[in-house]
Amino acid sequence: MCAASIALAISMDTNCIRIALGTILLILPCLPFLSIAEVIYPPLELFSISCGSSTNFTLDGRNWIGDNNSKLLSESQGSVAAPPNTPTTIQGPYTYARLSHSKFTYSFSLKAGPKFVRLFFYSVSYQSFDRTKACFSVTAGPYTLLRDFDASLNAAADDDPGQPDILFREYCINLEDGHKQLNITFIPSKTAQHPYSYAFINGIEIVSMPPFLYYTNPHDYARVPQIVGTLSQYHIENSLALETIYRLNVAGNDITASRDTGMLRTWKVDDNYLTTQSAPSVDFGRITKLSFNMTQNYTAPDEVYRTVRNMGMGSMNMRFNLTWQLPVDSGFTYLLRLHFCQLDPQVRLAGDLMFFIYIEDQLVTNWADVLLWTYNQKGVPVVRDYVVSIPVNQKKPNLSLKLHPHPQSNIKDAQLNALELFKINESTGNLAGPNPDPPQQTPKAPVENSKKKSSCTTRTLAAVAGAVSGVVWVSLVVAFFLIKRKKNVAIDKCSNQNDGSSHGDGSSSLPTNLCRHFSIEEIRAATNNFDELFIVGTGGFGNVYKGYIEDSSTPVAIKRLKPGSRQGVDEFVTEIEMLSQLRHLNLVSLLGYCYESNEMILVYEFMDHGALRDHLYDTDNPSLSWKQRLHICIGVARGLNYLHTGVKHMIIHRDVKSTNILLDAKWAAKVSDFGLSRIGPTGISMTHVNTGVKGSIGYLDPEYYKRLRLTEKSDVYSFGVVLLEVLSGRQPLLHWEEKQRMSLVKWAKHCYEKGTLSRIVDAELKGQIAPVCLRKFGDVALSCLLEDGTQRPSMKDVVGMLELVLQLQDSAANDGVMESGRDYEDSEDVFGSSHSSVHVSDYSKSTGLSTTSEGDRSYGSKESFVLISNDVFSEIKDPKGR
Ligand SMILES: *[C@@H]1O[C@H](CO)[C@@H](O)[C@H](O)[C@H]1NC(C)=O
Ligand SMILES: *[C@@H]1O[C@H](CO)[C@@H](O)[C@H](O)[C@H]1NC(C)=O
Ligand SMILES: *[C@@H]1O[C@H](CO)[C@@H](O)[C@H](O)[C@H]1NC(C)=O
Ligand SMILES: *[C@@H]1O[C@H](CO)[C@@H](O)[C@H](O)[C@H]1NC(C)=O
Ligand SMILES: *[C@@H]1O[C@H](CO)[C@@H](O)[C@H](O)[C@H]1NC(C)=O
Repeated sequence: MCAASIALAISMDTNCIRIALGTILLILPCLPFLSIAEVIYPPLELFSISCGSSTNFTLDGRNWIGDNNSKLLSESQGSVAAPPNTPTTIQGPYTYARLSHSKFTYSFSLKAGPKFVRLFFYSVSYQSFDRTKACFSVTAGPYTLLRDFDASLNAAADDDPGQPDILFREYCINLEDGHKQLNITFIPSKTAQHPYSYAFINGIEIVSMPPFLYYTNPHDYARVPQIVGTLSQYHIENSLALETIYRLNVAGNDITASRDTGMLRTWKVDDNYLTTQSAPSVDFGRITKLSFNMTQNYTAPDEVYRTVRNMGMGSMNMRFNLTWQLPVDSGFTYLLRLHFCQLDPQVRLAGDLMFFIYIEDQLVTNWADVLLWTYNQKGVPVVRDYVVSIPVNQKKPNLSLKLHPHPQSNIKDAQLNALELFKINESTGNLAGPNPDPPQQTPKAPVENSKKKSSCTTRTLAAVAGAVSGVVWVSLVVAFFLIKRKKNVAIDKCSNQNDGSSHGDGSSSLPTNLCRHFSIEEIRAATNNFDELFIVGTGGFGNVYKGYIEDSSTPVAIKRLKPGSRQGVDEFVTEIEMLSQLRHLNLVSLLGYCYESNEMILVYEFMDHGALRDHLYDTDNPSLSWKQRLHICIGVARGLNYLHTGVKHMIIHRDVKSTNILLDAKWAAKVSDFGLSRIGPTGISMTHVNTGVKGSIGYLDPEYYKRLRLTEKSDVYSFGVVLLEVLSGRQPLLHWEEKQRMSLVKWAKHCYEKGTLSRIVDAELKGQIAPVCLRKFGDVALSCLLEDGTQRPSMKDVVGMLELVLQLQDSAANDGVMESGRDYEDSEDVFGSSHSSVHVSDYSKSTGLSTTSEGDRSYGSKESFVLISNDVFSEIKDPKGR
C-alpha cells in the first residue's frame, strides 16, 4: 500500500497529489513519510539557478534555470561550465558547476524585503579543477557569506552521511528599500596554502520570505528574542544577515524543500545532536487539526509539530537534563528558535507539564509550559526565541540546550518539537567562520562498534535507540562518526608516482604510489618515539630522523618540523603540494606526510649519503672525485631544468644550495626542499613574480633581492654558486677570510678575469681536472653568475654545457692531458661566443654580503632566511630565527 501511494504521488501533478493523498493519508499507517505540505506562503520571488547548466529542469518542487547565456551572470569571462568528474545520484543542481580562477558575480534584481539566499555545492573535481584546490570567498551585498572557504575540507567535516560531498548553505538577507539589486560574488582565495585556488558553485537559490518570519516585527513586543543570561531583548533588525546553522525537526523525520510551507526550507532530524537519553519519538498523528493562532501558519510545516521528544524515563527524569549539543563557530552571536506544540493526550491543562530551559547552561526560563503559553489550547504551535553570544574559545564549541522537569510539574517531563539556530553577522558584515581542521585519523575507534555500525544508517540506529540504553546509543553515534571521518581522511594530495626509481638509480625499493598520510603512531614507531639516536640532521626547521617503515624494512628520512611557526605551515604545505606532483630522477621523492596532533612531518626516501655539502668541506667524509662532482652537477642541473621546463607551470625552487642537494647510495644527486618553491610566472605579459625575498645567504641572486623580481634565472644564479662550491670545496661566504676572498663568487670572478681560476680549485682535486675542462667549467659557472638575469643561460643550456665539460674531461683523460698546476691560456672555445668570455662585475660591495654561514650539518635545508627589501641583514645574525 505504502509503495503504491508513493508511486501515485510521483506520477501526478502537485494539485492532484494533495487531493489524492489527503484522503489516503488518513488511512495509511505510513503517513508520516508521505504528507505533502500545503504551500501556505507562495514566495513572491523565486530564483533557482543551476550554475553551469544550459538547460532548465524541475526537481523537488523547483524549476531550475540554467545560467548559461543568462543575464544574471557578470564578470564571468574566465569562468567555465563543467560537469563533475564523478556524478552524484543525489537530486539537485549537481549535474554542472560554474568554476573560475577569477571572481565572478550573479546579479539579481529583487524587490525590497527579506530573502533566503541558498548556495549548493558538490565538492568533487571538475575537469582539471582539483577538488582540493577549491578555496574562495562569497559576498552578497554588504555581507561576507563565506571567507577562504575550503570546500573539500568542509565536505570532509560535514556529518551528513546521506549526502557525501554535498554542501548546502542558507542565509537570510534583508534588502532594504532603495537596493533593488543583490550581487552575489565568488572570489577565489589566493593564500599561501592555496596559490592556485578557484571558486565554484552548482546552484543558487533566492526565495523571498514573509517580513517577520525571523526579523523582529517592531510592532510586536511579545515576540522579541530574549538575550540569554539577561531579561533584555534583542531585535533582529533589518540590517542583520543570518546564516542558518541548524533547522531540526526534533524527534521527527527529514523534511525536504517541497514539503516546507512554501519557502523551500529543509528540516533535518535531531538525532546527531542529542547527547542524553530520551523517550522514543512520539508521533501524535494527523487527527487533531493544528490551529496557528499564536504564530503564522507558514512558521513551520504542520508535521514538525506532530512529533515531539520527551525524556521518557519516568521517575528518572528528575536526575538528568534532556540535552542537545550543537557545534557552532565561536565568536558569533546566535539566534535560537524553539518550536513547541502540545498534542499529548495526558497533558490537559497548564501546570501539567512544566520545565526549565537552559541555554549555554544559563536558565532562560524556569516556567516553560506550552499550555500556559497557548491559553490551554491544545494543538497550537508556539515559538520562543533566544539570542546567545558564544565567546571566542575553542574553534568549534558546542552550543548547549538543556531541558529539565520543573519540580512542581504534575508530569515530570520536558518537551521540544523543533529548533532553528542562526548565526548573526559580525559588525563587519561577516558571517563566515574558519574552515574545519583536516579530518584526523582516529585509530582509537572501538573496533567492535565500528563493525556493527558500518552497515547501519543513522535512521536504523534511531530505531534501535529505544531498545538499547541511551548511553550506548550515544557511543554508537560517536563511533559512527569516527568511522565516517576515517573514510574521509583520504584528502591525499599525492598523485600516482609514475615510477622514477625504475630507471636504475635503485635508491628506493618501495612500491610506487606510496605518497600517503602516515599516522603519528606510525611515525613514532618508525623513530622509536623521536629517539635522539635516530637524528641524522638538524636545522632551523627541526630535526631529520632516519626511521624504518614497512615492517622495519625500508629506511626513510623523517623530517619533523618544529610546530608553531606560521611560515612553517606554509612551507610544509608547499612541499607536499609540489613534491607530490613532481617525479624526476633528480628530485627527492616524498613518500608521505603526517599532519596531526600538532605535528607536521614529511617522509622522504632515504638518501644514504646525505647532503652534497657534507662531502665538500668541514667534513671527515672522503673527498669526491672530479668525475663524481661533474656527474652530481649534471644531475642537479637536470633536476632544475625539469622544474623550469618539464612541468605545466614553471616551478622556481628558490633555495638551491649544497645542503639541499642530496646524494643517494649510488651518488646520484637529488634536489630537495621545496618549501620555498613557487610557481613561476604564467601569463605572457608576466616575466617575473613579485615577492618578498626568501632564500639563503650566499646563494641569493642579487637581482632578485635588489629588485624583488623572481625568475627562474634566480635558480640559475644559485646553481652557479653551487658549481663554485663544488670546484673550490669551500663555503660561499667565509668572514674570516681576507676581504678579497670572503665571497666565493667575488673571489672566483676575480680569478676568472685574471685567468687564474685554478687558484680557487679544491686542493683535493689537484691533478684531476684537465685544463680545458676547468676553463669550460669556469665559463659555465660564471655565466650562471652574471649580474643581469636575462644574460644567464637557461638550465637547459647549463645541462648541455656541463655534459660537454664531462666529455672534455673524459677525452682529455684519455689523451693524458691533465691539470698541470699551470693556468690555461690557449684552450679552444667549445661553447661559441655567447658564454666564452664572461663579463663579470663586482656586485658584492653594493650588497655588502659579508656574513658567514655557520658550518652546520644538516640533512636538508637549514639556513633559509626571510629577507625583506633593504633590511637584508637584520635577520642574518639569527639564522635559526625563522
Ligand atoms: C494562513 O493564514 C492566513 C492568515 O494569516 C490565511 O489567510 C491563510 O488562509 C492561511 N492558510 C492556510 C493554508 O491555512
Ligand atoms: C529557461 O528558463 C528561462 C526562464 O524561464 C527562459 O528564459 C529560458 O529560455 C529557458 N531556457 C531553455 C533552454 O528552455
Ligand atoms: C552589481 O554588479 C553589477 C555588475 O557587476 C554592477 O553594475 C552593479 O552596480 C552592482 N550592484 C550593486 C548593488 O553592487
Ligand atoms: C541541568 O543543567 C543545568 C545547567 O547546566 C545544571 O545546572 C543542572 O545541575 C543540570 N541538572 C542535572 C540533573 O544534571
Ligand atoms: C551586520 O552587517 C551590517 C552590514 O555590514 C552592519 O550594518 C551591521 O551593523 C552588522 N550587525 C552587527 C550586529 O554587527
